Amino acid sequence: MSVIELDDVSVTFHEGKRTVEAVKHVSLNVEKGEIFGIVGFSGAGKSTLVRTINLLERPTGGKVLVDGADITGLKGAALRELRKKIGFIFQGFNLITNVTVGKNIEFALKAGGYPKAQWDDRIRELLKLVGLENKIDSYPSSLSGGQKQRVSIARALANKPEILLCDEATSALDLETTEGILALLQRINRELGITIVFITHQLDVAKQIFDRVAVMENGVVVEQGNTFDVFSAPKHPTTKALVERYLGIQVPPQLVPSLPAGTIVELRYKGDAALEPLISRVAQDYGVSIDVLHANVEYFGSLAIGILIVLVSGAKERLPQALDELRTHVFSYRELDRAKLAAAAESSESVENKEA
Ligand SMILES: Nc1ncnc2c1ncn2[C@@H]1O[C@H](COP(=O)(O)OP(=O)(O)OP(=O)(O)O)[C@@H](O)[C@H]1O
Ligand SMILES: [Mg+2]
Repeated sequence: MSVIELDDVSVTFHEGKRTVEAVKHVSLNVEKGEIFGIVGFSGAGKSTLVRTINLLERPTGGKVLVDGADITGLKGAALRELRKKIGFIFQGFNLITNVTVGKNIEFALKAGGYPKAQWDDRIRELLKLVGLENKIDSYPSSLSGGQKQRVSIARALANKPEILLCDEATSALDLETTEGILALLQRINRELGITIVFITHQLDVAKQIFDRVAVMENGVVVEQGNTFDVFSAPKHPTTKALVERYLGIQVPPQLVPSLPAGTIVELRYKGDAALEPLISRVAQDYGVSIDVLHANVEYFGSLAIGILIVLVSGAKERLPQALDELRTHVFSYRELDRAKLAAAAESSESVENKEA
């Protein structure tokens, strides 16, 4: 049974005369114990969608099921019970600034009806989990961003939720701090068995920790699946755009004007395969030359995807055959448009000039 089931969920906002369909007919399932991610550009509807899981946003259409029960109409005590099952952290931490770290957590325990006699033990246990035992009496203002996020994680876990929702939880943090928070969330997921739903626009975060991912655009889930599959072979233009932007695959701009005639091709391979033997074989068999312009290997979880951009040039008659041979032996093959590359190179040059 899925822990979370969104069944044809829509959320429409009315602002005066304007209607915003922030979420449109989204259906998806989150399985127990997984880290499920939602990615997409700004305004795609990610936050609105995730906020329907704890009814911070009430769907205007469709149903939300948690542990198999329809929660869409919950109110009062039943809604408070639901929210105890679901912790929530955000980019902005949302700590209460005029009380100590310990008190921040205590408020959550109190709100959740946690037995008072156990508050102190529970607060210490939680702070130990997030590595901040010595900060119990500190005020949030004295903490770093990463430490504040750790406190908000401790607070979100106070009432032993089954689910943790994270909305851009690392987006305000630097790389190193982000790594620490991700490691902590992975530990919480594995050791406590807490199901995590994580929104981010940062693909380097997504590729590290998501088991499965949904891509949103314009209120709609346009693609979803296993993280490696979705990112290594994106199908929808939005996913492609996200991945391309992240991987930053490009022919070095300074090379473009001086490239000799030939076809520029982007080749991708999956897993441990290597393209060098293929490239030298094709070059030899067809009497063409193949020059590597850009090479990169990216890891999605433990799986690798390799990307090469090559220039294939040589005798006109053999060139198409050589390209065909490459095409049939790689995981993905794409010919790049010289004119577009030149235009991109020119615009990146003018950006550099402006920055200088
Ligand atoms: N309370 C609201 N009232 C009116 N419109 C809203 C409200 N909340 C969100 N929207 C609109 O709904 C759309 C989706 O917003 P949402 O915040 O869910 O996107 P997002 O994918 O989380 O974006 P971001 O990456 O910038 O956080 C946007 O057009 C937004 O302006
Ligand atoms: Mg958002």
